[in-house]
Amino acid sequence: MTLPHLWLRDNCGCGDCRIAQTDEKKFMVSSVPADLEPASAELSDDELRIVWPDGHRSSYQGKLLRAYGSSDEITGSSWPRDYMPYRCAYRPFLDDDRTATNAIVRFVADGAMILEGAPTEPGTLEYLAPRLGPVREVLFDRIHDVAVYPSGYNVAHTPLPLPPHNDFASYTWPPSVQALHMLANETPGGESIIVDGWEVLKGLRAEHPDYFDVLSRVPVPFREFDEDTETFAVEPIVRVNSSGTIAGLRFSNQLMQPINPNDPRAVDFYYAYRELCRRITDPVSQVSFRLNGGEILVVAAHRVLHGRQAFEPVGRRHLQDAYFELDNVKNHLVVLRRRGRAQQ
Ligand SMILES: [Fe+2]
Ligand SMILES: [Zn+2]
Repeated sequence: MTLPHLWLRDNCGCGDCRIAQTDEKKFMVSSVPADLEPASAELSDDELRIVWPDGHRSSYQGKLLRAYGSSDEITGSSWPRDYMPYRCAYRPFLDDDRTATNAIVRFVADGAMILEGAPTEPGTLEYLAPRLGPVREVLFDRIHDVAVYPSGYNVAHTPLPLPPHNDFASYTWPPSVQALHMLANETPGGESIIVDGWEVLKGLRAEHPDYFDVLSRVPVPFREFDEDTETFAVEPIVRVNSSGTIAGLRFSNQLMQPINPNDPRAVDFYYAYRELCRRITDPVSQVSFRLNGGEILVVAAHRVLHGRQAFEPVGRRHLQDAYFELDNVKNHLVVLRRRGRAQQ
């Protein structure tokens, strides 16, 4: 292993360098010179012991040093051809830690799950907060109603088909988890659609790396608004993380605003965007099912797009949406597993 001197000094675990009460770091690396080197170092019994020029002593367990950089994060898994979201009963999901742990593991891997047997009362999504929450509030409403309204501000408030999208592309950080709770679905049509956006992007990247690249660089404005509300953000459609892995898809045909036509990349952007739209609206990319009253579809919204077919507005159809954050969901899982181990 090659261990930088400043890394070693910064990660001294002694009682002077850390806050005992909180197990947080107290040492500040700017308190030592940039060219700091150990006065002496010795390795024995899988322990590295260092004395620094000012006499400060640090020691490091080999076992811990070797563990840095490895990760037990759940990696996203591709959907099989006959994929349907994992289904979990609503009440046990809330009441039983082991059921919740299993469901959240599946949810994090697949990016989607369905809770069934939920109440059909408005506001039920509030009760998911202990497992997924807190609720991520955005403008318009804390819990959003989706039904046909002549005064609605979004295509979702009409019986028109809703192409796959994620909600609130008009925020710099859109909600990363969305729960869609069907209270009543008594109309013909309106089948739910989900698309694994990351899988679509992987295919696009493999076949058209230039398209992928332009979609990750050209900023695109998105806006959702009504008379009293304004949300607006300008961000690329594709987000990759620092190691180049796909980390986010921002896709909403209905909220997208014109990109700058004078941008020299505008022509290339449109070839790429057109191809992305073709792939997202291709039935081959879409998983479709009927969401019934008392069912809650939960999606990892920076990965999985949702939409629906058109429906005939002849019966009751009422959906409620609330948002959460994937960071919080994953951290609930860490705590659930810790609690599970403590009970064994
Ligand atoms: Fe939506
Ligand atoms: Zn120390």
